[in-house]
Amino acid sequence: MPERTIAEPYKIKMVEPIRQIPQRARARAMLEAGFNTFLLRSEDVYIDLLTDSGTSAMSDRQWAGLMLGDESYAGSRNFYKLEKAVQDVYGFPFVVPTHQGRGAEHITSQIRIRPGQFVPMNMYFTTTREHVERAGGVFVDVIIDEAHDPTSEHPFKGNVDLAKLNKLVKERGAGSIAYLSLATCVNMAGGQPMSMANLRAVSAWAKRNKLAIIFDATRVVENAYFIQQREKGYADHTVREIIKGMMSYGEGCTVSAKKDNLVNIGGFLATRSEGFFQKAREMVVVFEGLHTYGGLAGRDMEAIALGTYEMCEDEYVASRVRQVHYLGNRLRNGGVPIVLPIGGHGVFLDARRFLPHLEQDVFPAQALCAALYVDSGVRAMERGVVSAGRDQATGKHKYPKLELVRLTIPRRVYTNLHMDVVAESCLALYEGRSRIRGLRMVYEPEHLRFFQARFKKL
Ligand code: F0G
Repeated sequence: MPERTIAEPYKIKMVEPIRQIPQRARARAMLEAGFNTFLLRSEDVYIDLLTDSGTSAMSDRQWAGLMLGDESYAGSRNFYKLEKAVQDVYGFPFVVPTHQGRGAEHITSQIRIRPGQFVPMNMYFTTTREHVERAGGVFVDVIIDEAHDPTSEHPFKGNVDLAKLNKLVKERGAGSIAYLSLATCVNMAGGQPMSMANLRAVSAWAKRNKLAIIFDATRVVENAYFIQQREKGYADHTVREIIKGMMSYGEGCTVSAKKDNLVNIGGFLATRSEGFFQKAREMVVVFEGLHTYGGLAGRDMEAIALGTYEMCEDEYVASRVRQVHYLGNRLRNGGVPIVLPIGGHGVFLDARRFLPHLEQDVFPAQALCAALYVDSGVRAMERGVVSAGRDQATGKHKYPKLELVRLTIPRRVYTNLHMDVVAESCLALYEGRSRIRGLRMVYEPEHLRFFQARFKKL
């Protein structure tokens, strides 16, 4: 008997109309946006796969929770509920709320890095690395080589290469390292998980070298799901148990609650180190807000608390990843080059193989994003040479091996028919790929340039 269909474990109670503006209007909008999808008006977008960040649909319980916001300046009851949820799910006793993930990254980097120290990471995330560098830290990529190869089907491409860590210690000494920054389900690698076995090994290594692991646990839910599905010995564990197990290897974590935690804004830092917590509490009041709100409204903290429990319900996580894989498999079966294995939060088009006639310095992924929008009104995000930025020392572009277009799937928002529209647009573009031309950058901000850079067609 063929496998039976499993539907989403929820139904739709409220809808938000969207529309596809005509092709000529899309071409005009893209020109006005300087071929940067970040500069489009969302009203001109039909299906918005720019990001899964802050774009989730909240549940009826979360919406009801908003009405329970305690907007007291100090000691809001919603803070204590958030603190309890983070303790329950992540297992860290101390919690500092922040306005979003980068607020927690800022505080962590400022407290934990002395200028000149190294911060090894499994690949990089744009804001995380920016904050490390602002604190005088030096990012070192210690992810396994497979992560840089979009065709490698390694099941845990987020893993750390211990040989790279050993090399760093041998050359520079363990004292030159501030901490290990480990991302769960590595965003820039295509939403690729770490295995528990790797985590265990890295943790043992870190202990030997007296170094702390601080997670970027922004997408730990999807990572835990992949461990459950792929790693021997975890099939009978719940996603929630696996999350706790993973986090047990860290001294703390920073989280953008805008992803896993099913809310539109928020973040936090959590730790088991009382000293780190004290310093973070002192610093949060300067940059975010009092330590019981950290830049959030009471109602926001209530929604995060509820989302933190909802996010690790097994049926929900399975349906979330299944939708991402539905889109990925349609593209893969149609011959479109994508990053494999298909990731947890999105499908990543491999722009190098999609547009082999374009060199990396004419921004193939940026050009492909623009073409996708003009074709169908679908908005995606460049994750290639524009996102990588320039080398601090030489001022030259960094040329990452991965030149990707990220089709990021918001949680609980779109149906699989929307995914079909996206797939058909990508397939049509792939068919006419030789007509897609490169771009030249005509405006470039100094920091995180991908957000605001502008381009012209060659
Ligand atoms: N870490 C990771 C892995 C992220 O993906 C993000 C945000 C952050 C930290 C920063 O969190 O946005 O709340 O300040 N990623 C978004 C994205 C922007 O589209 O991937 P934030």
